[in-house]
Amino acid sequence: MKRIVVLTGAGISAESGISTFRDSGGLWEKYDIMEVATPEAWERDPELVNQFYNQRRKQLYEVEPNQAHYALVELEKKYDVRIITQNIDDLHERAGSSKVMHLHGELKKVRSSVDDSLVYDLDGWELKIGEKCELGSQLRPHVVWFGEPVPMIPAAADLTNTADIYLIIGTSLNVYPAAGLVSYVRPGTPVYLIDPGEMNVSHIAGVKHIREKAGAGTRKLADKLLQKG
Ligand code: OAD
Repeated sequence: MKRIVVLTGAGISAESGISTFRDSGGLWEKYDIMEVATPEAWERDPELVNQFYNQRRKQLYEVEPNQAHYALVELEKKYDVRIITQNIDDLHERAGSSKVMHLHGELKKVRSSVDDSLVYDLDGWELKIGEKCELGSQLRPHVVWFGEPVPMIPAAADLTNTADIYLIIGTSLNVYPAAGLVSYVRPGTPVYLIDPGEMNVSHIAGVKHIREKAGAGTRKLADKLLQKG
């Protein structure tokens, strides 16, 4: 079975109603990254940071996967599909994708603020300041903040290196180290980018940029790959 490795970003969840970060009207226009998504912000004002992620989590319970998430599930009929997502939502899992790696953490999980290995499923959308891990430290969102290491990167790079086909969907490729994963694609591998934005992708050898929204673009590409596969 051929392997398709897929790198997804906020754009794949846009049609589900979740804002992207850097588009006009995106989250980083409304919020200052330094105020809500750094370890320093958490130190300074945990209430504010926690509120930001509580809102994101609450919204996640109100949205559903879209056509793009489902098209990736369908590809599993004929391909070994591995998803590497920068998203902290669980829409790939809810659509039914079986192999999903989260590079930047998961919104529905929380973890100890003194021991990263103590990760818990949160019941419902709200994490409260005062809720503690078994070691007695405040629970924090299980997300990677700016300035923190991305522990899944080596595994994601290895996986990227095994792709027979590589798809990139809905990411501005602005944030490293995730954006650097494309350099692990083996030479000669077909690479497709589905994103309606105007992007400079000249550094990605042989990439075919499909300038469509994730829903329609992924659906069409999946149909083509399923016919071939
Ligand atoms: P960005 O907001 O940087 O980029 C979103 C991309 O989605 C852009 O290239 C848009 O053109 C595209 N897009 C918008 N609507 C779309 C649609 N309907 N279909 C397909 N694509 C669409 O989001 P990411 O690249 O995911 O990290 O951002 C990467 C990381 O930066 C995030 O994981 C997050 C953020 O800060 C952390 O918080 C650590």
